[in-house]
Amino acid sequence: MRKEVFVGRKYGFIYIVISISILFLSGCPKPPIGPVGSLRDMAASRNIRIGAAVDPTKFSETAYDNTCKTEFNMLVAENVMKMDTIHPSATTYNYSPADLIMTYAQNNGMTVRGHALLWHNQVPGWVTAKPYSELIAVMQSHIDNVLTHFKGKIHSWDVVNEVVKDNGLGLRNNDDSSSIWADSLTDDSIIKEAFYRARAVDPDAKLIINDYSNEAKGSTKADKLYSLVAGWVGAGVPIDGVGFQLHLMESSTPNYTAIRQNIDRYIALKPGFQVQFTEIDVRISEPASQSELDNQASIYANLMRIALDYYPNVTVFVTWGITDKYSWIPSVFSGYGSALLFDGAYAPKPAYHALVNALR
Ligand code: XIL
Repeated sequence: MRKEVFVGRKYGFIYIVISISILFLSGCPKPPIGPVGSLRDMAASRNIRIGAAVDPTKFSETAYDNTCKTEFNMLVAENVMKMDTIHPSATTYNYSPADLIMTYAQNNGMTVRGHALLWHNQVPGWVTAKPYSELIAVMQSHIDNVLTHFKGKIHSWDVVNEVVKDNGLGLRNNDDSSSIWADSLTDDSIIKEAFYRARAVDPDAKLIINDYSNEAKGSTKADKLYSLVAGWVGAGVPIDGVGFQLHLMESSTPNYTAIRQNIDRYIALKPGFQVQFTEIDVRISEPASQSELDNQASIYANLMRIALDYYPNVTVFVTWGITDKYSWIPSVFSGYGSALLFDGAYAPKPAYHALVNALR
């Protein structure tokens, strides 16, 4: 009698264990594969440099500081390495704001991108007042001084930024006031010289040509930039990579196939050629709905999948800011915002979780 009760209990126990196991294996959510960590940890586990553009005056804000050092392992100066800040007069260099970023990066084990040396915006008045004939010398001494200051500490420099016209028909130039740096549609001498000069001063930094709307093969501007870069690389100009800024809109789905085809042709230019994603943001028409935030998340994740597929030619994935609170988007694209991974209160958005998932 006692033995029968025991046997009955024993089978009952086995029955419950088997039932729970079947239930768990069939219906319960599966535990994630691999470690679940911050975006920074997940990116590091895949050798991706996950970056953000920063403003050093915000490091004193606790949430900014915490999010920055927990979630990112690469920094770029949103503004303070640009010529108007760093070289305010012909004889003065102002390195203190940029050095705050260098120290912060060092203290938190991060790498830094340099941005930007030769660009038509945020140029100080003393430079715009110069005649074209003096600009090459100005550019040379600027690059010498800035690269010497940061020598050995910069992962990659945007040596040249946004030199192709929006219509893709040629280089920006001073004939139509779109850039002070070149004096005709075909004058690329200052661009080539910028790369030679940068290489001579800091042989270790990767030298990048950066632009926007240049990511998809088949657009006039992307094709123009590619053909220029192919010509320069073929002629031995020391260009190590191209930057795709990727200031995108949630409402227009990127042509991922054309982006891959563009990366294919760039990395065929020479062994080790880099394609960097340098200024990603995906703006949404405000107020952002849940479905728009979800769609934005899939754009971010698809870009990360492309980066992972092209490793090690793609290792840099930088977003243009940390939080929607300080994003440049609302001030430049009226009615748009919500473009980054963290909302205005530093809460991670669907795009953040989608990136972590893509890296898993
Ligand atoms: C933007 C900054 O985010 C703003 O704060 C500033 O007022 C203007 O410049 N392409 C670039 C970046 O290469 O330097 C720009 O940054 C955004 C577009």
